[in-house]
Amino acid sequence: MNIEDIKNISVIGAGNMGHQICLQSALKGFNTVCTDVSKKLLKKADDFVDSYLAGRVEHYVKGEYGQKTKKGWYDYTKQ
Ligand SMILES: NC(=O)c1ccc[n+]([C@@H]2O[C@H](COP(=O)([O-])OP(=O)(O)OC[C@H]3O[C@@H](n4cnc5c(N)ncnc54)[C@H](O)[C@@H]3O)[C@@H](O)[C@H]2O)c1
Repeated sequence: MNIEDIKNISVIGAGNMGHQICLQSALKGFNTVCTDVSKKLLKKADDFVDSYLAGRVEHYVKGEYGQKTKKGWYDYTKQ
């Protein structure tokens, strides 16, 4: 089996490890499902994605890292 053959990932448990693994898998393009016995943990994981992604865009795309590396950096204010 090659990595290209993998399309779907299931993560059991949305705790410290699971919610990060789930997000990283999704960001890498895999169809990802994360489950947990705790609805509270699932909600926390879902809320984390919303707060985390905005920060990553700020850091990598608009921020200093993006400007230094020229990886995906953009700025709406420059002509
Ligand atoms: N946290 C670390 O730094 C770390 C490092 C290496 C390995 N691990 C291992 O990774 C695993 C998870 O660690 P963690 O820190 O994320 O733990 P955690 O307690 O934060 O998360 C575990 C999650 O699994 C859920 N869960 C338990 N039983 C379940 C079930 N039957 N179905 C669905 N969900 C279920 C719990 O509700 C919880 O949210 C452990 O086996 C741990 O030993 C953790």
